[in-house]
Amino acid sequence: MNDDNHTDTFPKGFYWGAATSAHQIEGGLTNDWTEWETSSPRQQELRQKGLHPEDFISGHAANSFVEFNADIRCLVELGVTAYRFSVDWSRIEPKEGEFDETALRYYKSCVQKLRAHGIEPFVTLWHWPIPIWMRDKGGWKTKEIIKYFSRFVKRVVQALGEDVTFWVTLNEPMVYSSMGYIKGHWPPHKKNPIAYLRVIRHLEQAHREAYCVIKKIYPQSQVGIAKHNIYFEAYKNFLPHRIAAFFADWWWNQRFLRAIQAASDFIGINYYFHSLVRIGGAKHVYERESDLGWGLHPEGMYHVLKKVAHFGKPIYITENGLADRGDQHRSWYIREVLQHVHRAIKDGVDVRGYFHWSLIDNFEWAEGFHPRFGLYEVDFKTFERRPRSSAEFYADICTHNRVE
Ligand code: FCB
Repeated sequence: MNDDNHTDTFPKGFYWGAATSAHQIEGGLTNDWTEWETSSPRQQELRQKGLHPEDFISGHAANSFVEFNADIRCLVELGVTAYRFSVDWSRIEPKEGEFDETALRYYKSCVQKLRAHGIEPFVTLWHWPIPIWMRDKGGWKTKEIIKYFSRFVKRVVQALGEDVTFWVTLNEPMVYSSMGYIKGHWPPHKKNPIAYLRVIRHLEQAHREAYCVIKKIYPQSQVGIAKHNIYFEAYKNFLPHRIAAFFADWWWNQRFLRAIQAASDFIGINYYFHSLVRIGGAKHVYERESDLGWGLHPEGMYHVLKKVAHFGKPIYITENGLADRGDQHRSWYIREVLQHVHRAIKDGVDVRGYFHWSLIDNFEWAEGFHPRFGLYEVDFKTFERRPRSSAEFYADICTHNRVE
């Protein structure tokens, strides 16, 4: 697979892709997150920080609900073979038990358009926001959500399943639960460890139920989650640091995957972070950082992949990317990361695809429109999509199945 010293060729059939999520690109949604964005406490909080609240309201987002064809054009231009996107629960089931057939037909048409262009759809069933009625029942804190989520999943799979093989049930359950129930940064703004643990348990159960629902209707489908894993590295070979790194890895990276292991056909990995674990230590300084100040550490990808390899499941990198408005680091980062993916594959890790986050600039959860994650730049007034130079760089990789 290593043609010469400078070229890494990927296995035949490796999926090259890009990823997005409904709330971040579609626009025109009404869910618990949009309510939060426009709520007066949130607006006040932003004003107090001297920020413009309108930059933090998803609103039309990238207008992808209307501009899906423009997104397809970007995908085709890139030469990707797969696209990960999500359906929005509140669009499909705006009222409890009332499913919007137009919305389901819309998503079906998305899937069919992708197929018509030879692009494999990877459909995420839940990428964070929930319908308002579900929020009012207690959201992920109530056990009841498992039954409502399963019913929703069933409807989606009945409507789209003929054309979909890959399903991602949940996006980053550990991130969602900690931001919403421990740190209190995201809706529903709780700082409650008991609720946090309950939410995690319900997410595990919801995944398992969804897995059964999907497999019952389409046994051939491939079902997994998109799991946010961090490379926890002990600062020096010193026992207390190593123990801390071990526990961080166990709690954040491994435990959830273990809990759903029997109900997973593949593991999706979202990789963004490295953490140098050092008891009582200072913040690590990185040579390069994203616009959000996230330290860029391509090598961590290798270690994260090696660690999840022991589950013995196919792995897809369901997200990896950076906020980089000026496109200064994106091509470098993609190349470096992919070299580490390739190194893991050479070591025998069964990695079958890579999805760059993100296809286009979009709405970032608490940070609003400022961070620019797109291979394509979006003008949020005209909704025009323009390739950054990293898009061309990535297209070259996708079309040649190799990294120079
Ligand atoms: C991930 C989320 C995704 C996006 C990227 C930047 O944690 O899954 O929606 O916000 O971060």
